Amino acid sequence: MTKSTIDADTILKRATPVAHQESHEIQPFGHLVHMPIALSETTCKESVENLNQLLADTITLRDLYKKHHWQTAGPTFYQLHLLFDKHYEEQNTLVDSIAERIQLLGGVSLAMAPDVAEITLIPRPPKGREAAPTQISRLLHAHEIVLKEARTMARLAAQGGDDGTNDLIVSDVIRRNELQAWFVAEHVVDVPLTHAV
Ligand SMILES: [Fe+2]
Repeated sequence: MTKSTIDADTILKRATPVAHQESHEIQPFGHLVHMPIALSETTCKESVENLNQLLADTITLRDLYKKHHWQTAGPTFYQLHLLFDKHYEEQNTLVDSIAERIQLLGGVSLAMAPDVAEITLIPRPPKGREAAPTQISRLLHAHEIVLKEARTMARLAAQGGDDGTNDLIVSDVIRRNELQAWFVAEHVVDVPLTHAV
């Protein structure tokens, strides 16, 4: 058996995690790599650009739901607290699906809050708390922004032959947002609680 000639310092150095490494990006934002999925570069580019806008707005809507989940108040606190969190989770699933579709098309998905804030079309809410009807108005406005752009993007994807993007937008994004908008909107219908009028 041969005795190791490596000294203790060298052994320890090899066992130490190599942290604080920096390098150039492997793919700059806004540039596509070619993926072998039988779609033209033009189609992929258009879908990636549209999906990044949809991603930024979906992340913002998702986070708006969490803000309202935490900050809601009043007699409907419990049901809104639970409903807002359910919608947050569902929007979070959409965020992941949209981001991963951007990657599979050869693009780079937006991810971080400052980058999202730069391009989202959803107005920024105040840091403080707002009453439930105002929270609901904000959510309905955000859903409508997402639905409007999503329908246009779905048509463009279908025209370009990108059926996968069209399906994601129609089957997942549009249908989920329409359903959530209904659940939220019914909370601001002014019907009597105890006496019929
Ligand atoms: Fe919570």
